Amino acid sequence: MSAPGTTKLLEVRDLAVAFETRGGMIHAVNGVSYALETGETLGIVGESGSGKSVHVLAMLGLIPKPPGRIARGEVVFQGRDLLALPDKALRKVRGGEIGFVFQDPMSSLNPAMTVAAQIVEPLRIHLGLAGAAARRRARELLDLVRIPDAGSRLDQYPHEFSGGQRQRVMIAIAIACKPKLLIADEATTALDVTIQAEIIALVRELKREIGMAIIWITHDLGVVAGIADTVQVMYAGRILERGPVDDIFSDPRSAYTLGLLRSLPDLGVRDVRRLRLQPIEGTPPDMRLPPAGDPFAPRNRYATPRCFLEAPPLSQAPGAAPGHLVAAWYDLPGQLARERPTP
Ligand SMILES: Nc1ncnc2c1ncn2[C@@H]1O[C@H](COP(=O)(O)OP(=O)(O)O)[C@@H](O)[C@H]1O
Ligand SMILES: [Mg+2]
Repeated sequence: MSAPGTTKLLEVRDLAVAFETRGGMIHAVNGVSYALETGETLGIVGESGSGKSVHVLAMLGLIPKPPGRIARGEVVFQGRDLLALPDKALRKVRGGEIGFVFQDPMSSLNPAMTVAAQIVEPLRIHLGLAGAAARRRARELLDLVRIPDAGSRLDQYPHEFSGGQRQRVMIAIAIACKPKLLIADEATTALDVTIQAEIIALVRELKREIGMAIIWITHDLGVVAGIADTVQVMYAGRILERGPVDDIFSDPRSAYTLGLLRSLPDLGVRDVRRLRLQPIEGTPPDMRLPPAGDPFAPRNRYATPRCFLEAPPLSQAPGAAPGHLVAAWYDLPGQLARERPTP
């Protein structure tokens, strides 16, 4: 699967996370396995509640325990299992070798601290920088995320920045220590489309400059098209499909991915999207009782009886590009060919 000369930066092996709640056990992540190469950008998509956030929070040791519990799995980052690291060692990784940006910069930034103080913090903790050297680097970072007039803005507070600029400050903090991996979870969701596009363009430039790998999480498949090398589709705490971005868009093999593509506004580029704009019918399963079979089966018009009984493994899709994996018992291209009206 990996191209020659690339190396694995991260390997997630059979990760499962549950929450013990008064209403019962919620099985949020149910056996997720994948690898990320050095410098690769992975887009993770899926409707709300599919376990995207929980799986990265678990990786970073940020799941509240209780009610959260890592049921099983390993998250090997640069040769070390993050789930087995003592808290102190994990804190060194978090914000140092792994930077992260979440959806709402207002709640992630401290409203009572200047922007300079907040950028300097990771520099002090992870790189031991202080005083004038730290301040110089903080200013460079604000320049790097294209905040105009960085020098005079360092001493301002978060509320003096616009929403898009606050997200840029969050990115400056996330990349302050030149991480090997940047994790962004719905990082542009709260922003309007123009600002969203600017932030994505910025992250692509920073990736070129810093050479980091990225995990970009979003419920919006349209957003990953502009940034990802590889796309991974999650549903009910599992991966239903994964592959090179162009193949996912031009040759989807999971009915769920097809549903996500068809619910995108038509950009007039790809085949599947020329079909009508249609939302996916039905609702995701109740994660207190995860289904035994393919979790998407009840919403899938192409489901076969086997889909309801047995969960399909994630494996190479027949006839698809190498590394294009799908978890499905049904043959989506065959079904679509049968449906196509004869001219
Ligand atoms: N602290 C929590 N307590 C109980 N359930 C939770 C908690 N956090 C997340 N969950 C549940 O875990 C599942 C996955 O959530 P999440 O990873 O946030 O989804 P996504 O990011 O894909 O929208 C959801 O069913 C959600 O309700
Ligand atoms: Mg989320």
